[in-house]
Amino acid sequence: MRLDDFPRHPLTFGPSPVHPLRNLSRHLGGAQVWAKREDVNSGLAYGGNKTRKLEYLVPDALAKGADTLVSIGGVQSNHTRQVAAVAAHLGLKAVLVQENWVDWPDAVNDRVGNILLSRLTGAEVRMVDEGFGIGFKDSWERALQDVRERGGTPYGIPAGASDHELGGLGFARWAQEVQQQEEELGVFFDTVVVCSVTGSTHAGMIAGFAAQDRPRRVIGIDASAKIAETRAQVERIARRTADLIDVGRDLRDDEITVLEGWAGDLYGIPVDSTLDAMRLTASLEGVVLDPVYEGKSMAGLVDLVRSGDIPPTSTVLFAHLGGQPALNAYSGLFPR
Ligand SMILES: Cc1ncc(COP(=O)(O)O)c(C=O)c1O
Repeated sequence: MRLDDFPRHPLTFGPSPVHPLRNLSRHLGGAQVWAKREDVNSGLAYGGNKTRKLEYLVPDALAKGADTLVSIGGVQSNHTRQVAAVAAHLGLKAVLVQENWVDWPDAVNDRVGNILLSRLTGAEVRMVDEGFGIGFKDSWERALQDVRERGGTPYGIPAGASDHELGGLGFARWAQEVQQQEEELGVFFDTVVVCSVTGSTHAGMIAGFAAQDRPRRVIGIDASAKIAETRAQVERIARRTADLIDVGRDLRDDEITVLEGWAGDLYGIPVDSTLDAMRLTASLEGVVLDPVYEGKSMAGLVDLVRSGDIPPTSTVLFAHLGGQPALNAYSGLFPR
């Protein structure tokens, strides 16, 4: 089936904005850097990359008669916040399993930011004392079972909406959108930099760009500090998505690039390069990045441009995937 033939329920405003980061590019003194802004892609609780993925899961949920979306993430998960907002928008219920993925000392970490927004939408928020892991969890199975026992019809959405048959489609479409915007703007982004954790954002892009003729590098920056798992997940979802949208050829290994070096030792804990990248981007561009994901992928971009790994002749697209609501849970990073 072609990508355009899959049912899609619009949850975004339309194509997300693309704009140059001129001050940052000048400061780095190399490639021209632009951003495509998933952080402002929707009016549903600040949107983000999951909102785009959910556009393809929602028709499936509605077709199956679901009345409750069930999902899982860390306490400050952007994903569960977006599931909560989408459920509210559709008149469905949401059950969110919030696990203890990050040991972060801010006293209000489990009160503000994403989790506050999820509570505000009316979602049932379940706090579970389990550590980081992107696989299928017992707590999630239990939540599905509880909804069934109450007489409801749950629709399970795995962490990051990634390990789901349709999870890669949202960002395969993003690749199409980039191609259209390039035509309108008269530019070509030979390199895309994207943060990768549960994998289907990066994987969807790989599949989407593979369906186009012009070669480009799509560089994933691991933010999970579990590089082997991230690589395996991206590869699996990229191949599955490429098959699903009939790319018509096998993906080459060199199309699947996930780099390590900017995640630090733990998911959710920023390191010096994360904070430097956040300060640089905010102070030069007024563009806000979070300490869990985008600060880490921007740190990767900064180093790759400075080292010339991304050459000065390149035009780079930084995929800004959202995540700013979590900043409120990290006030300890910016003491008085
Ligand atoms: C702001 C932000 N950036 C990047 C990612 C990584 O995307 P993915 O989980 O699809 O790899 C996520 C979610 O995990 C996110 O919320």
